Amino acid sequence: MINLDQYIRDIPDFPKKGVVYKDISPMLQSPEAMRFAVKTFIENLKGEKIDKVIGVESRGFFFATLLAEKLNAGFIPIRKPGKLPYKTHTEAYELEYGTDSLEIHQDAIEKGEKVLVHDDVLATGGTALAACNLVEKLGGEIIQCNFLVEIGFLKGRDKLKNYQVESLLKY
Ligand code: PRP
Ligand code: MG
Repeated sequence: MINLDQYIRDIPDFPKKGVVYKDISPMLQSPEAMRFAVKTFIENLKGEKIDKVIGVESRGFFFATLLAEKLNAGFIPIRKPGKLPYKTHTEAYELEYGTDSLEIHQDAIEKGEKVLVHDDVLATGGTALAACNLVEKLGGEIIQCNFLVEIGFLKGRDKLKNYQVESLLKY
């Protein structure tokens, strides 16, 4: 049993004044912490079969690839605009600080495939909801959305009320 809280570093006023950035770098520097996080994510899936794991650019990529390998699933990046080389679908969303849009390759998911959506942090939920909308546009079935960190007071969970949400740490 590892207390993952000690591997998350608070950075006040980053990237903007008034925002406390949850920095997962200490966790990524620790093989024990990464292993424990992956193990807990897998346990939280309770044996559900997963075909594809979504990682949301950029901080969602790290654990999504680890999870995909462990689950014997494919890894699918959802990226910021203009980064994916092939044909894409796009979804706009509002962020805790600003607005942006996300893209997915049109052939990333087959109809009916079981999908796990992963990101590092759930804040307002705008990012994760946009990712879920892209998955559903392609006909994927979202089994769960999981996060290392959930910022409770921003109520991202409410935005994801149609999905099963798991987070390893709540603040
Ligand atoms: C951060 C974080 C989540 C998102 C959560 O990403 O990594 O993806 O914000 O915010 P929300 O729930 O309010 O939408 P950011 O867009 O800052 O980019 P990054 O992952 O590339 O650092
Ligand atoms: Mg992010």
